[in-house]
Amino acid sequence: MRKYIIYILLFICTITYGSSKMSVIPVVKGVERIGGNFDMSLLKGVTISADSYETDLLYDYLLSSPLKLSKSSSNNGVLTLRRVDKVNGCDSPEGYSLRVTKRGIDIEAISGAGLFYGVQTLLQMSYGNKKIPCVEITDLPRFEYRGLMLDVSRHFFGKDFLKKQIDAMAYYKLNRLHLHLTDAAGWRLEIKRYPLLTSFAAWRDRPLWKDWWNNGRLYKNEGDTGAYGGYYTQEDIKELVAYAQKHFITIIPEIEMPAHSEEVLTAYPELSCTHVPYKQSDFCVGNEKTFEFLENVLTEVMALFPSEYIHVGGDEAGKLSWGDCELCRKRISDEKLKDNNELQSYLIHRVERFLNSKGRKLLGWDEILDGGLAPNATVMSWRGVEGGLKAIEAGHKAIMTPGEFCYIDSYQDAPDTQPEAIGGYLPLEKIYSYNPIPENISEEKTDLIYGVQANLWSEYIPTEKDVERMVYPRLLALAEVAWSDPSHKDFIDFRKRAIKAVDFLKSKGYFPFDLKNEIGNRVEAKKRIKHLGLGKKVIYLPKGKYYNGYTAGGDSALVDGIRGGWSYTDHRWQGFIDTNGLDVVIDLGKEKKIKYIGAEFMQICGPELFLPANVHISVSNDGKEYRVIKDIANEVVKDDKVTFKNFSWRGKMKARFVRYQAERGKFGGFIFTDEILIK
Ligand code: ACM
Repeated sequence: MRKYIIYILLFICTITYGSSKMSVIPVVKGVERIGGNFDMSLLKGVTISADSYETDLLYDYLLSSPLKLSKSSSNNGVLTLRRVDKVNGCDSPEGYSLRVTKRGIDIEAISGAGLFYGVQTLLQMSYGNKKIPCVEITDLPRFEYRGLMLDVSRHFFGKDFLKKQIDAMAYYKLNRLHLHLTDAAGWRLEIKRYPLLTSFAAWRDRPLWKDWWNNGRLYKNEGDTGAYGGYYTQEDIKELVAYAQKHFITIIPEIEMPAHSEEVLTAYPELSCTHVPYKQSDFCVGNEKTFEFLENVLTEVMALFPSEYIHVGGDEAGKLSWGDCELCRKRISDEKLKDNNELQSYLIHRVERFLNSKGRKLLGWDEILDGGLAPNATVMSWRGVEGGLKAIEAGHKAIMTPGEFCYIDSYQDAPDTQPEAIGGYLPLEKIYSYNPIPENISEEKTDLIYGVQANLWSEYIPTEKDVERMVYPRLLALAEVAWSDPSHKDFIDFRKRAIKAVDFLKSKGYFPFDLKNEIGNRVEAKKRIKHLGLGKKVIYLPKGKYYNGYTAGGDSALVDGIRGGWSYTDHRWQGFIDTNGLDVVIDLGKEKKIKYIGAEFMQICGPELFLPANVHISVSNDGKEYRVIKDIANEVVKDDKVTFKNFSWRGKMKARFVRYQAERGKFGGFIFTDEILIK
């Protein structure tokens, strides 16, 4: 009897939710197995009925797809794509129904995009399979905006490479490619009116961003010996946009303002506050010429990119030159602005009015909230989720791309097994765990969360292979976050599908990260540890207190038994930036036999985390008189690695109070530790 019950349960599971077995990414919403299989060798032709533009587009796509189909007018044994007025259970234009029977395959949707996504599901189901199960699938995306940002400024990647990424994005049902086209490291878009942007500001004297950044940050002329860089011609962009459209992907151009603009202000120094090249990163907001320039550039940008949204950057403005600039001060006074934040906001508002007057919308990083958000702007929330939440509170749309979950320039595995990255640790599981809709927000506000995006900044990503290793398979996790209903998400199952997807991507000439051999987080971080200090009182001595951006949970963090992982941003590492560094006393409550006192520190020089220069370990029985039991001097050396180093004492003694001091060295910056272990 028990055996029968198990069989029945298994049968029910297969009927109602067999999607995971199909190895489709992102996992589909509803699957019903209807019995039997369809023999893919019967699939020779396709019939499409949609509007003529979409029909042509879909024929084009399918006739050159791996299915190797021809146009067919017969309805038997073929694939039929039909645009309809309604698909039951599917109120999104990008949703679709897919019905596979023994005789043929029908896809229905209310738009060409929906039909296209039905095709992607079919392509994934049939990859490597002679037969596919007969099923009825109804599927639709959770979010309208499902994006990938590629930074093509810090290192340049050509149009054919972008097309290859568009192929993969479409396969996994992503629909926005955001190109970070301009930054200090190089301007990447031909603008006819300002030729120096591409004959000069697109070229630099060193290929590797880090070398260039640390060695004078010089630009070169196109064609000069050793000039590194590149740009997309306007013809390239037309080709790319058309290619993306065929894949139901919108390319969103980002033109940075008012900051990250050293390259422009070196080519056209009259747009900066001092008019001196190689000096500023922010446009002069007091100067009308700045607006003339921005509007002229945006006019050419809009002519090339049909995207509803134009991204104007807006992040990380230093605003340093504005205070000393007569024109900026006059602007502040004339416009009755309070401060430099409002001056930045003035620029963003004015550019928004210009974009809106041309029928476009402004998108910007969450700093565009500072000084007052432009009336119709959409916010890309990157410094956590707060910017996005603020935006939706004010009735604006937000795209969630918080660094902790969406910055795929972070390490995806043990840093010492990976090429140098910017830092952080964002493994597949973490990006997969992200829910762009925070708890406790109303349904009405939920609708303002427009979507989610993975960002690949390329400071440490010089080659195309590096891009693909960082993007895949993490982009697939983002795709499932963006498309699938959270109730259908299951990391263990996803990981299996992602491992297959890695093989698929390799077979198609991509260079994904080797997920099968992933090492995972630091072993120390995998389980809670016990020691004498666990849960004991910690007293932070004056000036030895942790920085409030990196508390790791506060006063008990160094004795909570929770060790840190590969990244100092994992909320397990406590950071110290005071002159004294770290200075704490742990009160064990009563005298204890002690044979070990130690702590581990992390160094990663990019974000200025250094090992301590001196460690002092001392003990006391009364909490007043301390006896130093170990002084450790350490030479702090800058390098490209992520380093973990233990500073400890071993011996035998009795004490109640343990004082651990770790001093910062000559480079200043932070020191970070995760636990003070007392055994
Ligand atoms: C950003 O990461 N500066 C948007």
